[in-house]
Amino acid sequence: MPKPEFVVTEPYEDQKPGTSGLRKPTRRFLENKYYPENFIQSILSSIGDEVVGSVLVVGGDGRYFLKEAVQKIIQIAAGNRVRKLIVGQGGILSTPALSAIVRAKKALGGILLTASHNPGGIDADFGIKFNCANGGPASSAVTDKIYEISKTIVEFKAVNEGLEVNLDEVGTKTFDVDGTPFDVEVVDSTAEYFTLMKELFDFEAIKSYLQVSQKEIILDSMNGVTGPYCTRLQKELALSPESVSNNIPKPDFGGLHPDPNLKWAQHLIMSMRNGDQDFGAAFDGDGDRNMVLGRNAFFVTPCDSLAVIAANACHIPYLKKGLSGVARSMPTSGAVDLVAKKLGIPCYVTPTGWKFFGNLMDAGKISICGEESFGTGSDHVREKDGIWAVLCWLSILAGRKQSVEEILQAHWEEYGRNYFTRYDYEGCDSEGANKMVEHLSKLIESQELVGQEFSAQGKTFKLVENDNFEYTDPVDGSVSKKQGIRFLFEDGSRLVFRLSGTGSSGATVRLYCDSYEGPTGNISGNPQDVLKAIVEIALKISELKEFTGREEPTVIT
Ligand code: G6P
Ligand code: ZN
Repeated sequence: MPKPEFVVTEPYEDQKPGTSGLRKPTRRFLENKYYPENFIQSILSSIGDEVVGSVLVVGGDGRYFLKEAVQKIIQIAAGNRVRKLIVGQGGILSTPALSAIVRAKKALGGILLTASHNPGGIDADFGIKFNCANGGPASSAVTDKIYEISKTIVEFKAVNEGLEVNLDEVGTKTFDVDGTPFDVEVVDSTAEYFTLMKELFDFEAIKSYLQVSQKEIILDSMNGVTGPYCTRLQKELALSPESVSNNIPKPDFGGLHPDPNLKWAQHLIMSMRNGDQDFGAAFDGDGDRNMVLGRNAFFVTPCDSLAVIAANACHIPYLKKGLSGVARSMPTSGAVDLVAKKLGIPCYVTPTGWKFFGNLMDAGKISICGEESFGTGSDHVREKDGIWAVLCWLSILAGRKQSVEEILQAHWEEYGRNYFTRYDYEGCDSEGANKMVEHLSKLIESQELVGQEFSAQGKTFKLVENDNFEYTDPVDGSVSKKQGIRFLFEDGSRLVFRLSGTGSSGATVRLYCDSYEGPTGNISGNPQDVLKAIVEIALKISELKEFTGREEPTVIT
C-alpha cells in the first residue's frame, strides 16, 4: 500500500514568488536537488491543516518539465493527505481554465505550472504559481508565507511509490494511501472552461455573424496552451481550418517567445498585413494574455481594448446587465476611466499584478478590469482571460457590424484618445537598474522637479506632480507601497517607471508613456510620433541610458 514518507531536504534562499509565482530558469528546477519539491511543500504547508482532505486543481501551459512537475505534485499532495487532485489532460490547463475549475469545483486552490509569457524549454523558464479558493493568484500575504516556509524547510512529505497515473487518459484513479482514499481525476482541458464561456456569450450569434458576413479571423496560440481551446472554438464557431495557427502546445513553444505583442507576434502581424482576415488575436503561453488586431493588422492597445469592452458591454450577454465598476493597473492608460465616468460607475486604479483585482471582484466592486500588459478579464474567473477577450470582441463586432478600426475610430471620437507606449529594457544589469530607481526615488522625495519645464522635439511640458504609487486595498485595507514612480505633466502626459516582477534573471526596466487628445484633437496620429517628445524627456529625467548603458529598448509596444 502506498505510504507517505518524510524526505529530508535543505532550504533554498531564492524561492520568493514574484509578480506571478516562482519563475526561474528551467535548469534551476531541474538541477538542484528537491528544488521543485521544496516549493510545492511550502505551498501546501502555507495552507495549514485545511490541506488534509482538500481538493486541489493542477495544470500548466505545456512547457518543458510540465509532466514531471505534475507527477511530483501528485506525490507530495498524497503525502500531505490531499483528498483529490483534478488535473488537466496531458497536464494541460490554461490559467483562466484552472481558475474556472477551482471555482466550479469549490476546490481549496490550484497549482499552475507556467512561466506565462516567458519562453519555455530546458534553457528557458519554468514556473510554479499558487491560486487560492477564489480561483485567483495568491495574495502577497500568502506568497510571503510560502517564501518564509521555503527558507527554513527541512523535509517534505511524499508518497514515492505506487501512484502511477496516465495523464493522457481522462478519468479518475483512486489510490489507497495508508488507509485513506486519494483521487486523481484527469479532466478534458477545455470542458469546464467552455461550459462557462457558453453561459457568458451567445455562440450562435457570433457564429452566424461570421458566416453571414463572411468574416475571416485568425487565432494564434503561439504554440502555447490556448491551442486546444482555439481548436475547440474553431469547431464551436464552425471556423475554417486556417482560423487557428500554432495551435499544438509545444514544450519550447516551437522556439517562439509566447508573448502576444508587437515584437513577439510579428509573424501574425506580417501575415495579417498581407492577408484577408478581419480580426486576429494572439495569446501568451498560459492563455491569460491577448493581443487584438483588426484588418491589415490594425493594432488595438490593451488599454483601448479594455475601454472598448467597457463601453460596449451591451453587446456582451454576460455584461449586458451593467457593470458594477471597472479597474485598471496604474501604468495602464486612463482610457477606461473616461468610459467609467460616462457610465457613472467607479474606476479603481491598482498596482501592477492581477492579484489586486481579486478582492475588488470578490466584493462585487468591479465587473471587468485590465492591464497594459495585454491582460483583460472579468469576474467570471479570477485571472485575465485571452479567449474571453476574443469572445468579447467577436460579440462586439457582431453587435455593431463594424470593423475593428471603425469601432476604435468611433470610440476616440466619443471619448478622445489616450496614446500609450511601453518601452522595455530587458536583461539589464540589476545594479544599474536599481541605481536608476534610487535616483528617481530621490527626485520624488525632494519634489525638486515639480514646477519645472522640460523641452524636447519643440514641445515643452511642465511637471505638476510626481510620486511613488501607493495602493490601499479598499476591501481589506492592506497597503502596497512603491508600486511605480510616476511623473504627471500639466497637459495630462504621464511617465511611469517600474522594474518588472516577472523576469527570471537580471532586471527589466519598464517605461510607460501616455498622453491624451480630446475628441476634436489629433486622434489619428501614430503613437510613436505623438509620444516621441515625452519619451525623450523620460530618458532625460531618469538618466536611463547612463544608468543601464542601454541606447535602445529591447521591446516597444
Ligand atoms: C503578469 C501578471 C500581470 C502583470 C504582469 C506584469 O502577467 O499576471 O497581472 O501585469 O505580470 O509583469 P511585470 O513584468 O511588468 O512585473
Ligand atoms: Zn500569462
